[in-house]
Amino acid sequence: MDITIFQEKRILLGITGSIACYKSVDLASKLTQNGALVDVIMTEAASRFIAPLSLSSVTGREVYSDMWSLDDHIQHVNLGEGADIFVIAPSTAHTIAKIAHGLADNLLTITALAARCPILMAPAMDVGMYTNPATQANVATLKDRGLLFAGPAEGRMASGLVGLGRLLEPTELMGHIRRALSSGGPLKDKKIIVTAGPTQEALDPVRFLSNRSSGRQGYALAQAALDAGADVTLISGPVQLNSPVGARMIQVNTAVEMSDAVLKEVADADVLLMAAAVSDFRPAELGKQKIKKAQAFSGGLGLPLISNPDILEQVKTQKAKTGRPLVSLGFAAETENLMEYGREKLVRKALDFIAINDVGSADSGFSVDTNRIILIGSDGRLMNMPLQSKSAVAEDIIRVIVEALDLRIN
Ligand code: C5P
Repeated sequence: MDITIFQEKRILLGITGSIACYKSVDLASKLTQNGALVDVIMTEAASRFIAPLSLSSVTGREVYSDMWSLDDHIQHVNLGEGADIFVIAPSTAHTIAKIAHGLADNLLTITALAARCPILMAPAMDVGMYTNPATQANVATLKDRGLLFAGPAEGRMASGLVGLGRLLEPTELMGHIRRALSSGGPLKDKKIIVTAGPTQEALDPVRFLSNRSSGRQGYALAQAALDAGADVTLISGPVQLNSPVGARMIQVNTAVEMSDAVLKEVADADVLLMAAAVSDFRPAELGKQKIKKAQAFSGGLGLPLISNPDILEQVKTQKAKTGRPLVSLGFAAETENLMEYGREKLVRKALDFIAINDVGSADSGFSVDTNRIILIGSDGRLMNMPLQSKSAVAEDIIRVIVEALDLRIN
C-alpha cells in the first residue's frame, strides 16, 4: 500500500466498548501498513471485547487505557497534543454523550477534552439508540463544535435488527480519515473536475457500445486531488468502484451527458483532469425496443454510427471566452506512435498537459492496477514516469498540477 497522506501521521485511535471493536484491529493495521504511527486508547469496556495485545501487535506501539501512569502523569495531554487526528472508532452512544457534555472519567474522554487536533467519531450502536433524540442531540452538539462524524451505515446489527447504526468498514473509515487529514493541503479551495470511466452508448434498451476503461486511474486522480485538499467533482461513467470520500459525484452514462456535465462544471473550475475514455461514436439511431436478430440481418450487419462531441475541444472553445479551467490535462491512450499522437492531441485540444499511456502492454493501461505514463507539458516539459501503481501515478500528476496552478495564479 502506498497512501502517502498517512505516512508519518500520528493517529490517535480511541476504541470504546461495542461489538464493532473487532473492526478497529483491521483499521489500526491498515493505517500502520500505510506508514501512520497509531497510538491506541481503549476504554475498559473495549478491552472486554478485544485484547489490547491485538492492537499493540498490529501497531507495534503501546496501547493506553490507564488514566494514571508513573512515567507520564499528563499522558492525556501529551497524547492529544502530539496527534494529527483523534479517531474514535467505534464510538458508543455513552462516549458520544460524555464528550458532548464535557465529562471526563477515563483516559479516552479526558484526552478528547484536552485534544487540540481534529476529532473524528465513528458511531456504532443499535438503531434505536442512534435515532434516540438524546443521541441525535449529542451528535448535533458535537458537530456544531466542529467534531467530524463518519457514518454510521445502514445494515444488519449484532442484535439482528436492521437499520442505521453499523460502524463503517475500515476502508471507508480510512477515506474519512484521509479527508480530515487533507485540510489545508496545497489545493485547498481549488475546484478540480475529474472525469473517469467509460461511456456507454445505447443501441437499444439492452445493448450498448462501450470500452474497457475501469475508471481506476480517474478515481485515483480524484483521490489524490482530495488528499491535496481540493474540492473535487468526479464525473464518472459506469464503473465498479467506491466513490472517494469527500468527492461530489456526478454519474453519467453517455458521452453527451458527460459533455453537458463537464461544460457546466468547468465554468468556475481551476483544473480539469480528463481521464474518461469517452466513446468516439454512438449508434445513429436508438432502438426503442430490443432489436431482433431478423431485423438486424435484414438491414445487413452494418451498424450506422455518428460522432460524439469531443469534450476537450468544446472545453477549449468555452475557455476562449471564460478563461476556465485554468489548467487542463488530457489522456492519450495509445498502442503505437505514442509521442507523435500524444503531442498532436496536446496541441489540437489546447491542453496544458497530456498523459500518454501505452495501453498496448499488459502491465499498463486498461483494467490493471499499474500504469506507465509519459507526461508532456505545453511548456515543453517531458516526464517519463516508471511503471507504478495508478495511485502513485495520480500523486505524481497532482504534484505537477499544484506547481502549474501556482504559476498560473501568481
Ligand atoms: O482523441 P482521443 O480520444 O484519443 O483523446 C483522448 C483525450 O480526449 C482524453 O483525455 C479523453 O478523455 C478526451 N476525449 C474527449 N472527448 C471525446 C473523446 C476523448 O474529451 N469525445
